[in-house]
Amino acid sequence: MVVASPSLQTAVCNPTAISIPKITIIGAGNVGASLARCLLSQHLGNIVLLDIVEGRPQGLALDMSEAQPLEGYSHHITGTNDYLDTADSQIVIITAGLPRKPGMTRDDLLKVNGKIILDVMAKALPHSPNAHFILVTNPLDVMTYLAWQASGLPANQVIGQAGVLDSARFRTFIARELDVPPQDVATMVLGGHGDLMVPLISYTTVNGIPLADMLPTDKIQQLVERTRHGGAEIVNHLKTGGAYYAPAAATAAMVSAILQNQSAILPVSAYLDGQYGLNDIYLGVPCRLDSNGAAAIVELTLTAHEQDALAESAKSVRQTLDKALALFGG
Ligand code: NAI
Ligand code: 2OP
Repeated sequence: MVVASPSLQTAVCNPTAISIPKITIIGAGNVGASLARCLLSQHLGNIVLLDIVEGRPQGLALDMSEAQPLEGYSHHITGTNDYLDTADSQIVIITAGLPRKPGMTRDDLLKVNGKIILDVMAKALPHSPNAHFILVTNPLDVMTYLAWQASGLPANQVIGQAGVLDSARFRTFIARELDVPPQDVATMVLGGHGDLMVPLISYTTVNGIPLADMLPTDKIQQLVERTRHGGAEIVNHLKTGGAYYAPAAATAAMVSAILQNQSAILPVSAYLDGQYGLNDIYLGVPCRLDSNGAAAIVELTLTAHEQDALAESAKSVRQTLDKALALFGG
């Protein structure tokens, strides 16, 4: 039998010897649970999965832990209903809230989810005052604003996930239409996470070839419309909830950009303070994501049509935001 020396035992057994990021996911529903698996499989950090329902996060965490010997996760996952277990998280992702049912818009969720977000922020922030917060709950841009306002944190530390998902959907539809690998398609979908989101055709390429050189305008427009209704298309299939695999993958991309200080330029819901001619609103724009969170907003030159579409989308987010501020104060 080989016995390790005391110093080696300390290095092996003491989990604090190596600094492993702690990532909290609030809301252990479809998106939260799928995200936990994504983060584990990408070895991004130790996960705390919290939900208001007793037993659900504990059961899911145990189930995922039992996959560890088979799938080789290097980090652990804890399920809890207690915010104390989330203390000192580097990243807190909020997926708590109701998803859409068929026929519902994201804005229908405003009242119920706004209350949940404010409750979650009040409980999570005191335990992780330096964390980066990533919102997923809908209506996304407005929930992100409410969370930021309630937190008092710098805006680079509170961002929302939508554009990475919407861009992935647009890439998928384009790739299928052209029969090319989706990884070859580059694009950005900006604006609010709603039916007026703005897929940027002028920045869409297939391995460098402009999309407009590969597809006729009417076909591109069909793919734009499908992207705008991409969430509803899945709700209509599932009938009991919304999408979760692609939303989880999109959120994981943001988490890895921050934790690995990637300086990746991704479309995220960020606080605008004059950029794109918009003020005091969260909206999907390209951001440089690194260990500072949304370190910088990238201001693209847009066509007149894209500028108008972004302004329309912002107008719609503003209307919902005004309703939210009337409901919840601010
Ligand atoms: P889900 O119903 O499967 O899960 C929501 C979870 O939140 C449930 O487990 C519930 O118990 C929990 N919860 C509710 N109130 C809570 C509270 N106060 N504290 C802690 N946990 C609480 O819903 P799903 O499909 O996971 O979606 C979650 C949210 O994410 C929805 O609002 C949905 O619309 C949104 N979403 C946003 C996307 C985006 O791209 N931004 C994409 C997909 C979903
Ligand atoms: C989606 O786009 C429901 O917002 C969610 O799938």
